Amino acid sequence: MRLTSGPLRRLGCVLALSFRALVLREISGAWALDNGLAMTPTMGWLHWERFMCNTDCEEDPDSCVSEKLFMQMADIMASEGWKEVGYEYICIDDCWMAPQRDSKHRLQADPKRFPSGIRHLSNYVHSKGLKLGIYADVGEKTCAGYPGSLGHYNIDAETFADWGVDLLKFDGCYCDSVEELANGYKHMSLALNKTGRSIVYSCEWPLYMWPFHKPNYTEIRRYCNHWRNFGDIYDSWQSIKTILAWTSANQQTLVRAAGPGGWNDPDMLVIGNFGLSWDQQVTQMALWAIMAAPLLMSNDLRQISSQAKTLLQDKDVIAINQDPLGKQGYLLRKEDSIEIWERPLSNLAWAVAVVNLQEIGGPRSYTISLASLGQGMACNPACHITELLPVKTKLGFYEWTSYVKTRINPTGTVLLQLQISQTTF
Ligand code: GLA
Repeated sequence: MRLTSGPLRRLGCVLALSFRALVLREISGAWALDNGLAMTPTMGWLHWERFMCNTDCEEDPDSCVSEKLFMQMADIMASEGWKEVGYEYICIDDCWMAPQRDSKHRLQADPKRFPSGIRHLSNYVHSKGLKLGIYADVGEKTCAGYPGSLGHYNIDAETFADWGVDLLKFDGCYCDSVEELANGYKHMSLALNKTGRSIVYSCEWPLYMWPFHKPNYTEIRRYCNHWRNFGDIYDSWQSIKTILAWTSANQQTLVRAAGPGGWNDPDMLVIGNFGLSWDQQVTQMALWAIMAAPLLMSNDLRQISSQAKTLLQDKDVIAINQDPLGKQGYLLRKEDSIEIWERPLSNLAWAVAVVNLQEIGGPRSYTISLASLGQGMACNPACHITELLPVKTKLGFYEWTSYVKTRINPTGTVLLQLQISQTTF
């Protein structure tokens, strides 16, 4: 509704002021999103990268965005080991909606593609011991042009809670200003909390903020459980490389923003699709673990190679991603196209990733001085080292003055875990 005439415009101002008072009262004193969720990064499956906005169920019944797709993924998540290793949220992205709201202004699912409705789908997903995620947008329209939540934050939050939704991905398209964007993200956070249902809040607020000014991550953390910072992931090495380069270039800002309850989100895992070589898939898995990233796969679990499945279900690597200390890792140094990333873990352990970014030639050797890791503390006075990726191998016992030799394929990664030992030779 556009407020143009005198009395209506005044009413608009009064409503705006009372909303502001409400927001200020509700946020004062809250320094982190107080919903108790995402104490470790969210794990699950999200349809976007693999299935995008495919709404043509006649032409493509098995790959269109429909309740059948999500039910099939839920069946497989529950029966083929995904749930056991921690993948829990089945998430719907854009293009699930009917083009119009219903007569009560509530969002509704496309009746052809979701004939049983979202409530039914969430019951189904819950019956498998999993959780359901949904998608909406802070502005007038979603990025693909479906109804946005602007002016409807409360009713949409209530609708999602009524349906039994457990996660909301809230996109940032079609917003008129950065103020509208920020107010909208805050409003939806409060509206979700007010429903009383536990709903993980996945934001894209900083991504849409960066073109205007550097986001205030302290503020974003107070409202969101994770937040996208950078453009959409594609099924390509170019895309993975760019995300890693952007993350390391901005790590001073990003790393300190992450911790239990709030995470940087470098976007979906595309492992198991078409664009990445085996070594590049290893790199994505290893670095998403180092970055404490949400692990939201976007692939077709009905058709996935056993190699990709084994990588995605690797319990040791998942344990690094889910480490309860919740500290995000960072790029320690880069030498001649070799990057060394490290991440502190609980129990004084460290994860170290050695990435070979050289795209010519064969495998390269790289020798790491253990004293250079973790500010000298990662292997002090000695440690056990296990190579987790690409192949799990116990490398043995090392003293802190010694060196460990790695050999890394082009665009691949060697992921190591160091566990302090008090015993010496
Ligand atoms: C934006 C988001 C993507 C996806 C699409 C859907 O581009 O960043 O992750 O949700 O919108 O339209």
